[in-house]
Amino acid sequence: MLSKLSTLAILAGAFSAVSAQTFQRLGTCPDLGCILPPDQQDFLPGQQFDIRFEVHAPKNGSETYNSGVPDEKFTVTIAKEGGAAKSLTSFFNTAEPALEKWTFSWYEDLFAQDAKNASVVNVASKIYRRVALYEPGNYVVTLSAYNGAKVTKATWTVRPLAAAKKAKNVILFIGDGMTTNMITAARLLSHKMVNGKYQSLLQLDKFPVIGHQMSHSIDSFITDSANSASALYSGHKSTVNAMGVYADSSPDLFDDPKVETIVELLKRIWGSAWGAVSTAFLADATPIALTAHTRSRYAYGPLIDQALHGVTNYSWTNHGGPDAYFGGGAEQFLPGATSYQGKDYYAAFAKAGYTVSLNKTSLAQASNSSRALGVFCKSNLPVWLDRNVFPENLKSNTNDPAGNKSAATDLPGLKEMTLKAIDVLHQRGGDKGFFLMSEAASIDKQMHVLDYDRALGDLLELDDAVQATIAKLKALGELENTLIIVTADHGHGFDVFGNADTKYMAAQATDRKKRAAVGTYANSGLSEYTIEVPGVSYGTGANFPMNWDPRYVIAAGMGANPDHRENYRVKKDGPRTPATASGGASDDYYVNPADNRDGFVVNGTIPTSESQGVHSLTDVPVYALGPCQGEFGGTYSNIDVFYKIAECLGLGHGTNKTVGCSK
Ligand SMILES: *[C@@H]1O[C@H](CO)[C@@H](O)[C@H](O)[C@H]1NC(C)=O
Ligand SMILES: *[C@@H]1O[C@H](CO)[C@@H](O)[C@H](O)[C@H]1NC(C)=O
Ligand SMILES: *[C@@H]1O[C@H](CO)[C@@H](O)[C@H](O)[C@H]1NC(C)=O
Ligand SMILES: *[C@@H]1O[C@H](CO)[C@@H](O)[C@H](O)[C@H]1NC(C)=O
Ligand SMILES: *[C@@H]1O[C@H](CO)[C@@H](O)[C@H](O)[C@H]1NC(C)=O
Ligand SMILES: *[C@@H]1O[C@H](CO)[C@@H](O)[C@H](O)[C@H]1NC(C)=O
Ligand SMILES: *[C@@H]1O[C@H](CO)[C@@H](O)[C@H](O)[C@H]1NC(C)=O
Ligand SMILES: *[C@@H]1O[C@H](CO)[C@@H](O)[C@H](O)[C@H]1NC(C)=O
Ligand SMILES: [Zn+2]
Repeated sequence: MLSKLSTLAILAGAFSAVSAQTFQRLGTCPDLGCILPPDQQDFLPGQQFDIRFEVHAPKNGSETYNSGVPDEKFTVTIAKEGGAAKSLTSFFNTAEPALEKWTFSWYEDLFAQDAKNASVVNVASKIYRRVALYEPGNYVVTLSAYNGAKVTKATWTVRPLAAAKKAKNVILFIGDGMTTNMITAARLLSHKMVNGKYQSLLQLDKFPVIGHQMSHSIDSFITDSANSASALYSGHKSTVNAMGVYADSSPDLFDDPKVETIVELLKRIWGSAWGAVSTAFLADATPIALTAHTRSRYAYGPLIDQALHGVTNYSWTNHGGPDAYFGGGAEQFLPGATSYQGKDYYAAFAKAGYTVSLNKTSLAQASNSSRALGVFCKSNLPVWLDRNVFPENLKSNTNDPAGNKSAATDLPGLKEMTLKAIDVLHQRGGDKGFFLMSEAASIDKQMHVLDYDRALGDLLELDDAVQATIAKLKALGELENTLIIVTADHGHGFDVFGNADTKYMAAQATDRKKRAAVGTYANSGLSEYTIEVPGVSYGTGANFPMNWDPRYVIAAGMGANPDHRENYRVKKDGPRTPATASGGASDDYYVNPADNRDGFVVNGTIPTSESQGVHSLTDVPVYALGPCQGEFGGTYSNIDVFYKIAECLGLGHGTNKTVGCSK
């Protein structure tokens, strides 16, 4: 008895060690039958999607089953709650798809990875493409395999109909990686306080409604920017690195079951104009997730093709191409090794009727009535601090968007790009309205490299862009018709815990003495960033710090970081590299010897193979202004941001197929 019990305990332990932890066979598929979309997913009435079924037969490892031979005769049904179960072919009136087979392998834990001892899984699968559920309610999908020995069920919820349009336009600002802690710090740097009372506030502080969204991925509690953006744009959670799909186990990065995104819905239902603006490269996760359907965010070239042409390899609903598309990332547009099939995408967009602007001057002059592409540099746009306070730093770049070996210096910022996009979208959308996503990407990118000043500068640039957007909409007579949302896709574990006396710190000889320069509680004093320095111009105007390099600076840190050294001062000669690989080992990071030489070492908390900080668990804020603003109070999932926007835009049509066609 005793021995039997302990055997069971060991088996249970072995199973839980491989279920839903560091490595997963397929995160959405704890059993050997997988239904994608999996259990607990929500849908907008009429939203199009694909359904994949997989039957797994692990050939070896802890889950070995049926000698590694997957059941090819599995059956699948769907039933509306209270109704009879039907085959998918009769329910969706579609043809039976062909059987697919493949093999994949995975590591069950870190010991298996160290030993390169992968577990092998054979798979049989079918995919039903481009279906939709029109009637609200619950549906149960059942997969039965191995003669009924393995039965998997998924319950899906189709949300209520929302066919009335309450907002003509939606502008969704995303401060990538932006948390309440960062907003608090940015406010301290840029707004004067007298005796504990702010004399002015951020634009965000003036929003009437604020909520919180939970950013978890479908199969991991820490998200990346791909699947979190995808959740905001489609109402469907996904897996790290995936967008516009539920990740399957097949090796093909583009065959995964897709879900329709907000811009595809908007184009199909209302024929609205849409655009995306980002300070990242345009193929980066947040802008590209509007149009991307892939398992891998790193397929940059093909994803720019999807942004222009839609999904071409499968019959799929088309977003029509963006009406305004502004950001960095010339690498995917210039013909060559990093563009899709080596093609010239400047030429491809121009051929499709786009004006193409490669600098700020030409963007301002671009027609408001044509579709507009603007690519202003290679890679990400230089950050606000370098563009406005330390412009000398721009000259050392070789990021010219035309591909010359020179620096891009005539650069627009988030504000210029957003306002131009509004001009184009307002004109092109007309009565049908528009949707714009505008991303402040380098809040995240600079938090990754622990460059707090550059991250907070870009957060203030976002606030400035929001303020200018409100003024612009007012001038266009569109403010009352426009829902403005400002949110983030996830956070970083950043916070401020005091000040640091940079002069005292530099004068100390040892790391332990240097730490005495950090002033906590009463010793934190007041912000010096808001005090004008006689004779020094930071050229930064209202709502930005008057002095980026005071003696007493904020002392801040991250919940997760590589080894690095802090002196907390602004880095004047360009963005920070906190950690470098030692010797030849490209995956073993130590303090960058050139970084903050007069500071003290802070040891890392994440694997030594990480050169940067990582995302964190925190909920992120959602600010709302305009029609439907009341929907956005409270705490909810990131997918709810999509359903709230869809409700406001009247995108949930169900069986009311007349809607949209008449317009
Ligand atoms: C591989 O893993 C299996 C258990 O999954 C174990 O029985 C076997 O000893 C491992 N082989 C090696 C070389 O580590
Ligand atoms: C499974 O089999 C493969 C060879 O097909 C082998 O390389 C691998 O180590 C085996 N894994 C386990 C966990 O036994
Ligand atoms: C689409 O199919 C073509 C032809 O099979 C292939 O060359 C191309 O790589 C595919 N593109 C994507 C994005 O899957
Ligand atoms: C901006 O682009 C236009 C059109 O391509 C070009 O004529 C002009 O020289 C560029 N200006 C700068 C400052 O690079
Ligand atoms: C675009 O519209 C704005 C008004 O919102 C106007 O100031 C600007 O001159 C227009 N640009 C062009 C090129 O027509
Ligand atoms: C930059 O590159 C473009 C196209 O590759 C070329 O037409 C232009 O003359 C180049 N400009 C300079 C300043 O080299
Ligand atoms: C702390 O960081 C220093 C500098 O990178 C490094 O030499 C040391 O090994 C680290 N200590 C630990 C415990 O990781
Ligand atoms: C269907 O759409 C039409 C046109 O917008 C609208 O008048 C009607 O009320 C809608 N019906 C339902 C059931 O939503
Ligand atoms: Zn992000």
